[in-house]
Amino acid sequence: MSKQKSKYVCQSCGAFSPRWVGRCPECHQYETFIEEIIKHESDSKKIPIQKISNIELKKLSDVSMLEEPRLKTNIVELDRVLGGGIMQGSIVLVAGDPGVGKSTIMAQMCMGLADKKIMYVTGEESLKQVKIRTQRIGQCDELLLLAETDLQTILNTAFSITPEVIIIDSIQTLNRDDLESASGSVTQVRECTASLMKYAKSSGTSVFLIGHVTKDGNIAGPKVLEHMVDTVLQFEGERTHIYRILRAVKNRFGSTNEIGVFEMKENGLKEVNNPSAIFLAERSYGSSGSSVTATLEGTRPILLEAQALVTKSSYGVPQRSATGFDYKRLQMIIAVLEKRLGLSLGTSDVFVNIAGGVRVDDTAVDAAVASAIVSSFRDIPTDSQSVIVGEVGLGGEIRAVSQIEQRISESIKLGFKTIIIPESNLKSITNKKGIQIEVVNTISDVIKKVL
Ligand code: TYD
Ligand code: MG
Repeated sequence: MSKQKSKYVCQSCGAFSPRWVGRCPECHQYETFIEEIIKHESDSKKIPIQKISNIELKKLSDVSMLEEPRLKTNIVELDRVLGGGIMQGSIVLVAGDPGVGKSTIMAQMCMGLADKKIMYVTGEESLKQVKIRTQRIGQCDELLLLAETDLQTILNTAFSITPEVIIIDSIQTLNRDDLESASGSVTQVRECTASLMKYAKSSGTSVFLIGHVTKDGNIAGPKVLEHMVDTVLQFEGERTHIYRILRAVKNRFGSTNEIGVFEMKENGLKEVNNPSAIFLAERSYGSSGSSVTATLEGTRPILLEAQALVTKSSYGVPQRSATGFDYKRLQMIIAVLEKRLGLSLGTSDVFVNIAGGVRVDDTAVDAAVASAIVSSFRDIPTDSQSVIVGEVGLGGEIRAVSQIEQRISESIKLGFKTIIIPESNLKSITNKKGIQIEVVNTISDVIKKVL
């Protein structure tokens, strides 16, 4: 018997190396490599090539197009991000920081599915803790609980009780006996997920995996699971903030970037049906450095407030900070404002924030961010009745955005009087009623209109 071999595996992305490295060459995270034992090479080569019978080939024309039945969770926001309910036999990863509310939303889902047989596997909390949480939220007497971390036991239980939905809280606590790695390591997390996936696909049971995202290298980042599972729901929000956003970052059965908005209350998560109103509720009227924009999250338009604060820099190097907005994009917008509008921001600190704890990737918010910066710099408030949409190009031009009509209708719904849009978007608008539409071609046009 020869010596056991080991390899070093990045706990964030699954890359491996024969020796320890301080920074992962793949995902660039620091100190994420830990040692994992690999099975003896000759063991893995023993798998014989088998002749498998009963393989069924299907013609494309014979594939049924009937919509698979979906289970409605009765939580509208959750059903939407799932693409219209839970797909049978699908495997969904619910990822997020510890304490964001992953166990809470899963418990609420169990209540919404009260007439279904659900198995809740808790590897983290005791049965009593689960009960305390559940009682806080509501009633779910029929829920089947299993406090277990051994994958084989969990699968055996599932085979014997045949639940319709299984919830694993959390995937990082599971353990497959036949693997040498510690639970929570990339190998364990990946192999346990693969086994659960096989089970889900063969039995038609839908499986939800809760996965913690931490910067700590000891816990496997759910990143490695993203390509294995059908759907990845990212639960975002500051623990101190009351709003939580559930975002579909991957979905084989629905559109991605779809979001569900919740408010964390004393008795669980409450759905927010009109997020625009909530995000604009605390807007400060009449002060400089604020503008409103219409972003699109999945299929849903949401109005948001872009805030900027431009102050005299007290150090040699001016600070730039972006919260909820891409930092590089902020730098680009500042450069455009300096070059095209002659704004001199070289000795100013610039802070940009998307209010409400939302993170936006939509470039349509550029023009509003630029307006907020100029507004704060000149200390003049922008027109509070205007919504600004448009992507800022390097030449200072305002470029077209997608789905302009949805953004316009959301602005009308929230009672805004004017919407400022890129001129190139004008031709795609059929209904021009209900709001005054102003078109712009450059960032300086935008500034002239709102300041
Ligand atoms: P939890 O679902 O346990 O988070 P996770 O599973 O993502 O780690 O809940 C996290 C926080 O939410 C916890 O600090 C307490 C708070 N909370 C409420 O404010 N109201 C509630 O009804 C519940 C159940 C939790
Ligand atoms: Mg939890």
